[in-house]
This record gives sequence, C-alpha cells and structure tokens, in this order.
Amino acid sequence: MQTKETEAARLPIDSAPQAANSGERAALVHRPRRLRRTAALRELVRETQLSASDLIYPLFVSEVAPEPTAIESMPGVMQWPIDKVADHAAEAAGLGIRAVLLFGIPAAKDPVGTGADAESGVVQQAIRAIKQRVPELAVISDVCLCEYTDHGHCGLLGGPETDPVVLNDESLPRLVSAAVSQARAGADVVAPSAMFDGMVEAIRTGLDESGFQDTAILSYSAKYASAFYGPFRDAAEGAPRFGDRRSHQMDPANAREALRENELDVLEGADMLMVKPALAYLDVIRQTREQFPELPLAAYNVSGEYAMVKAAAERGWLEEKRVVMEILTGMKRAGADLIITYHAVDAARWMAS
Ligand code: PBG
Repeated sequence: MQTKETEAARLPIDSAPQAANSGERAALVHRPRRLRRTAALRELVRETQLSASDLIYPLFVSEVAPEPTAIESMPGVMQWPIDKVADHAAEAAGLGIRAVLLFGIPAAKDPVGTGADAESGVVQQAIRAIKQRVPELAVISDVCLCEYTDHGHCGLLGGPETDPVVLNDESLPRLVSAAVSQARAGADVVAPSAMFDGMVEAIRTGLDESGFQDTAILSYSAKYASAFYGPFRDAAEGAPRFGDRRSHQMDPANAREALRENELDVLEGADMLMVKPALAYLDVIRQTREQFPELPLAAYNVSGEYAMVKAAAERGWLEEKRVVMEILTGMKRAGADLIITYHAVDAARWMAS
C-alpha cells in the first residue's frame, strides 16, 4: 500500500488545500465535473470537432447493375449504375460532404485488368459524370487492379502456375496507366491502394509526364492485410480467387513498419497519407499523425467496421447514431484529419439536424 506521503508527492497540487482541512472531510479543489455540468459547457470545452467536410464518401459504380443494387453485407450501401451515381454524389455534396472515393465494377475482367485504364472504363465514366453534375465535389479514385483482374489480385501474376506470385515492378506500369487515365477523366486525387513498392513514385512520375502535375496522390500508405475488408470484396467483387494479399499488405502486428511505409510514400511524393483499417489501428493513426504533422492524414473506416455496427444496430444491440458518431470522433481524436466512411451520408445528416 502507498503511504500518504507518496500520494502527496504524486499529486502536489492536491496536497496543500486538502491537508489544511485535516480532521474534517477534505474539500475537493479539483472537480472535473464542473465543466461537464451543462451542454453549453461541454460543447465549450470539446476538444475534437467532427464535420461533414472531414468525411470522404466511398461509392461503388457498376457497369452491369441496371439499378442501384443493395450489398447484403453492407446494409444501406449500393452498387450504383453509371447514370445514377452522379445524382447520389450530388445528394452527398448537398449535405456538406466534400469528396467521394470511387471504386469500379467492370463488365469484363481479364488477367491484366484491362478495364482499369480503359478510357471508357467504368470509373473513368463515373468521374466524368460526377465532375459534370457536381463540379464542386472533389473526386478521388482508387487505383488498384483487383476489381479488374479475373484472378482478383491487385497486380499482374507471375511465377509457376501452381504457385503464382503477385508481381511488383511489372505491375507498376499498369497502376500508372490506371492513375493517368483517371486523371485524364478528371479525378482530382488518385488513391493507390495496392501496397506495391515504388507505387507512389511511379504514379507521381507518370502523372507529371502526362501533364497532370496538379493531380494529388492520397496514398494508402499503411494498409494492413485485414479480415475487415470482407464485405468490401462482395461490394466491389474483387476477392482474390486464390491465396491472399499478405505478400504486399502489412502484417496487423506491425506498427513500426507502418512508419517506414509512410516515410517511403512521403519521399515518393504522396500528398496525403492513410491508415487502413482504422478501428483496430488507432495507435498507428496517432503515430502517423506525430510522424508527419504537416501532412493530411486519412483513416479508412472500412467495410467490416461498418458491417459490425449495422448488424448490431439491426438487432437493437447498439444505438447506431451514437455509436457511429463515437467511432468517427475517436478516429479524429486519434489524429485523422479525414475519415473515409460508408456512414458519411448518415453522419452528415445527423450533424445537420
Ligand atoms: C482495393 C481495395 C480494398 C479496399 C479498398 N481498396 C480491398 C482490398 O485491399 O482487399 C477495402 C475497403 C473496405 O474494406 O472498405 N485494393
């Protein structure tokens, strides 16, 4: 047990007045509850503010769905036909959301992901449609091959047929070409998500050589090989047909390695960084914020995190609105400036009401 003396030594500010009251019950000088007494006081001292402009709204655009199509594992999220996605983006913009992040579901897939850099590819068409309908909205497009390859991997495959490997250097030109075609279609920001080495530098160079010096790069700099992407792979129809992504996405056990990944991407020209997923990686968000205080940092509140909340809320086990706001606030408090979240439209609506 601690003695009175050591307690006093640990709490020097408390010790004097309380000692003066010796004999009687010590008067409390420190009452943090004073600032929690009314809603006005609580708001006055609130440290973290969340607003609709912090949110990035991911959208799945489909070349095949004739109508908005529900995704079973992500209640409330749709695959949007190209001709309807811009209206939905406009609705989000009307609620104060400043950016959307686009994923494409092409009509056809092949081993090299031809749809990823096609001028009339699904994402390229969606970018043009949104830029035309809602020019004030920032359009970010995901750069990866997994939605476009028939094997579902993020790059080209090589090695023996019985034990294929996801190639790094050979895949980079495909990613560059996808990024350039998205920039040409009007994307404000490209977001490479493949976790290949040298990806950001290759894309920066490729964009510059094609005259897109002003297209920014939001790198998925610290992206983990996570089971939380499960529902997304239904939504984007991009699950690997065999194997997994552990040869390129990071081991969930590693935080120091995230700092190395972040640093490399900054050196390669990333304009913004990202930690993904978010909930199980709040420590990585905090460390990234401290590592690069000068760079905008996004947290990706991924599909599995969304699905967990939705499933519990549907059963009445959690109060959805409060839980979502607490989760998003927690990500900001951890150090994220921006949050990519499927809850964006709901959250923006709640904040407005
Ligand atoms: C594409 C990509 C994925 C996600 C974003 N971009 C899937 C993956 O890496 O397997 C996941 C997003 C989510 O789960 O919400 N590489």
